[in-house]
Amino acid sequence: MYEILEKEVLAPTIKKLKVKAPLIAKKTEPGNFIILRVDEKGERIPLTVADYERETGIISIIFQEVGYSTKLLGKMDKGDYIQDIVGPLGHHIEMEGYNKVVLLGGGSGTALLYPKVRGFYEQGAEVISITGARTKNLIILEDELNEYSDRVYIATDDGSYGHHGFVTEILKDLLEEEDDIDLVVAIGPVPMMKAVADMTEEYGIETIVSLNTIMVDGTGMCGACRVTVGGERKFTCVDGPAFDAHQVDFEELMNRLNFYQNEEDLVHYKEVE
Ligand code: FES
Repeated sequence: MYEILEKEVLAPTIKKLKVKAPLIAKKTEPGNFIILRVDEKGERIPLTVADYERETGIISIIFQEVGYSTKLLGKMDKGDYIQDIVGPLGHHIEMEGYNKVVLLGGGSGTALLYPKVRGFYEQGAEVISITGARTKNLIILEDELNEYSDRVYIATDDGSYGHHGFVTEILKDLLEEEDDIDLVVAIGPVPMMKAVADMTEEYGIETIVSLNTIMVDGTGMCGACRVTVGGERKFTCVDGPAFDAHQVDFEELMNRLNFYQNEEDLVHYKEVE
């Protein structure tokens, strides 16, 4: 059992939990994720480790309440215990050797972006962060991004804060104006990651995306997280979750994510007591 030490509401449906998990905190690197179950019968929820403190043995997880299980997790409070947590899982992102990195995240994807922002910054790269959301009160982790970035750009769909429009429009301007960017990292909705991949391919800039596939076991056994990358079958849980954006078959990924939409919708409307 894993004790929740702190809870923070970052935006109306986005929560942050600090959890005591010393062994996971000791081994986690930016890009790793965990799978947790709220209780004995709980669904297995894959979540990126947003932050970790090796000395205190604390990890932070940030999640958006999008369905029954994440709503249940969102109801938990300081002093409650999570049934089990497995991790760290997946490969961490290789961060050495880059001078100027642009990282962009959409919606709750910013929570997944933040550990990479911090990692590249601590490696000494010039870091430009771009974050966006539908509206101002859904922008999260602005202070944290500012702490570990040389520049931060913000976009909102409704123009209530920062650039009125999409994060990809800010990226487009940067690519036009700055010719020394050597890596782009994009995390968020699949259409956004695909748009970034198409754009950076034109400029010949290496690009990494972190894929949020359906997962069950997280160990490469069930096949739920299968994706096609560079024409080869890969499993997001053991081969990713980060991949070369220019090699990912985004059409297939979108189809697979929609595969269980009816079941997701049914559970989505199930009330959390
Ligand atoms: Fe089962 Fe990746 S989650 S193979």
